[in-house]
Amino acid sequence: MKTTIAEVSKHVGEEVTIGAWLQNKRSSGKIAFLQLRDGTGFMQGVAVKAELGDEKFQEAKALTQESSLYVTGVIVEDTRSSFGYEMQVSGFEIIQEAKDYPITPKEHGTEFLMDHRHLWLRSRKQHAVMKIRNEIIRATYEFFNVNGYVKIDPPILTGSSAEGSTELFHTKYFDEDAYLSQSGQLYMEAAAMAFGKVFSFGPTFRAEKSKTRRHLIEFWMIEPEMAFMNHEDSLEVQEQYVSHVVQAVLDNCRLDLEALERDTSVLEKIKAPFPRISYDDAVSFLKEKGFDDIEWGEDFGAPHETAIAESYDKPVFITNYPAEIKAFYMKPDPDRPEVVLCADLIAPEGYGEIIGGSQRIDDLELMRQRYEEHGLTGDAYQWYLQLREYGSVPHSGFGLGLERTVAWLSGVEHVRETIPFPRLLNRLYP
Ligand code: 4AD
Ligand code: MG
Repeated sequence: MKTTIAEVSKHVGEEVTIGAWLQNKRSSGKIAFLQLRDGTGFMQGVAVKAELGDEKFQEAKALTQESSLYVTGVIVEDTRSSFGYEMQVSGFEIIQEAKDYPITPKEHGTEFLMDHRHLWLRSRKQHAVMKIRNEIIRATYEFFNVNGYVKIDPPILTGSSAEGSTELFHTKYFDEDAYLSQSGQLYMEAAAMAFGKVFSFGPTFRAEKSKTRRHLIEFWMIEPEMAFMNHEDSLEVQEQYVSHVVQAVLDNCRLDLEALERDTSVLEKIKAPFPRISYDDAVSFLKEKGFDDIEWGEDFGAPHETAIAESYDKPVFITNYPAEIKAFYMKPDPDRPEVVLCADLIAPEGYGEIIGGSQRIDDLELMRQRYEEHGLTGDAYQWYLQLREYGSVPHSGFGLGLERTVAWLSGVEHVRETIPFPRLLNRLYP
């Protein structure tokens, strides 16, 4: 019977056939251990000379790395491996014998691995990171569906910028100018006025000349937007959502977390509510810590965020930033208009900002004014202003960066390993 590694627990004691690749092997005179992978999982096959016969056993010993096979054998429990099962190989058929595979079990440099990303994805750790990414996406849909949100897809080609005009990818749209979306937010605000609670999940683009371990040129964002919810309500959604995702990864990615040697005890602590610190207090805190490079009114950099995050074992909300350093659409605090009703959620362990969110300006006149202050003009903005003319309501939303969240939960250093084919400042290949 044909099956997959993910399904072998249902076939203990049975003889099955699995389409697989040979990841690695070890052999002695009488026994060969074949490390098999089939996409759904990783399992050891044990080939014994006495069972296979001399000729087939020699063939097994000569198998090259990444050769594709149909392997047949009986599934048995194996308490020594954390996977828990292995195959006693009774036969195999080679589909293709692989040529010299460039990624050998020895160490390789990052640039070499990135040049071979199309192959590197097959490795145990990269596979684990992608499975964690997949679980975060699954748990995201689950959370928002269960809580009554409608999935809405904002456009990728747009005539306006959502997050400032300097980091836009420009393209032609026939005779018009167009940009790749930096954020679906403005469209999601329109959608919230039509559907109440909405979320999007899609690629976003930033022509940022930043070469850091947290920045990608193309990244994926989850953007919920909620009518009739204020800033405080939104923070509660955020902490519930993030807690749900962390728990889902802990529950469903045990082997992947283990392959990555992720310390799960730190993830076990991630449960709502999350601590909050105001921007004002964060500045004072940083000054006390000896950062003389920060003054009220300036934005935080990665070292500042990390220093703040180190005081907590959960993600921390930094709230109420100065209006000056935040986007035009954020609602000023009515009691203190120099700050806005916003928060950045900073992940523990130095993974940085994973969410940016705010309550949005719902007053037409104020929105017009902020527009002018930011030098934003053009027809593309007409529709956005109209949302404040026809039944404007308090509303809030946020954007969670998928790759930074994957990096945090997987415990990988750099976001380049958290997306299948990363787009970086100096990389468009493969
Ligand atoms: O803070 P940002 O820029 O917020 C927005 O775009 C809002 N319009 C979202 C909203 O309210 N609907 O981006 C949101 C998140 C950041 O917190 C970060 O996690 C991620 O997106 N992000 C990036 N991830 C990887 N590479 C980049 N260059 C990123 N820029 C932002
Ligand atoms: Mg931000």
